[in-house]
Amino acid sequence: MNTTQIETSVVSAGLLFPQTAQATPFIKWAGGKQALLSQLLPHFPSKFERFVEPFIGGGAVFFSLNHRLATISDQNEWLIDTYKAIRDDWKGVANILDTLPNTKEHFLSVRNISHSKLDLTTKAAHFIYLNKTCFRGLFRVNQKGGFNVPYGAYDRRYYDAGNLEAASQALQDTTILTGDFEQALLGVTDQDFVYFDPPYFKLGGYSDFNRYTSGQFREQDQVRLASLCNELTNRGVKWALSNSDTPFIKDLYKYYRMVPISARREINLKSQERDVAELLILNY
Ligand SMILES: C[S@@+](CC[C@H](N)C(=O)[O-])C[C@H]1O[C@@H](n2cnc3c(N)ncnc32)[C@H](O)[C@@H]1O
Repeated sequence: MNTTQIETSVVSAGLLFPQTAQATPFIKWAGGKQALLSQLLPHFPSKFERFVEPFIGGGAVFFSLNHRLATISDQNEWLIDTYKAIRDDWKGVANILDTLPNTKEHFLSVRNISHSKLDLTTKAAHFIYLNKTCFRGLFRVNQKGGFNVPYGAYDRRYYDAGNLEAASQALQDTTILTGDFEQALLGVTDQDFVYFDPPYFKLGGYSDFNRYTSGQFREQDQVRLASLCNELTNRGVKWALSNSDTPFIKDLYKYYRMVPISARREINLKSQERDVAELLILNY
């Protein structure tokens, strides 16, 4: 074996250029899928061109797949700006986080700042800071878009530098969009795979009121999403979708395969609501 052959075999064995560590979500997010990955991933297709996730939230599935080509999107603009800042300057975000004390007084002063006027790096640092110091890592805003979750008094670090670096790497070749889920699907082809994790339908007709954005995800949005899923099926695009195990959802997707998923929702306040049944719905 000559030198070139040795180098080639070392590279192909992944020894010379070890892959960067795989990232995990750098924020806590209601409905985050980190704890369910082992139940979800085995059902995903083994090969596809682009991974598309239109309700990215904390990105547990996106980060764990670590797929080369991806599109991520969410209607929460502050969240999406945070992804862009981590992609472009994770160290800058970390440096600002290092200056923010975890006190109720400081929390309230950051909460009162109008984030729309801030530069991207500061905006992201404030988003992560509020997420890590607020009550249960919830995201809730008033009608004017002002963050209004109370202080949580937790003794937790704001970030892990290695994880932010890995997240930044994972985001380098990713298309990052802000807006409604329909827009994220515009260029999708039958070689791509889409994972939908919308705000879940709750008995009562609306989903997770005011939880992630200043708007709501209503019954009509669930219907709009289901028709988009039908359209993708007609175009030969593979998708998987998570939602609640409720009669309304079962009826909306009655022509598709459904896998039961058992979830523990630590973010819910009432203990009797903590164990909930979910569905993974598949069109393949
Ligand atoms: C259940 S969470 C996704 C959780 C994510 N899979 C994770 O692991 O963290 C739902 C997300 O949908 C977003 N969202 C709500 N309405 C939307 C809409 N009409 N279009 C796109 N995203 C929307 C919310 O901001 C939230 O981040």
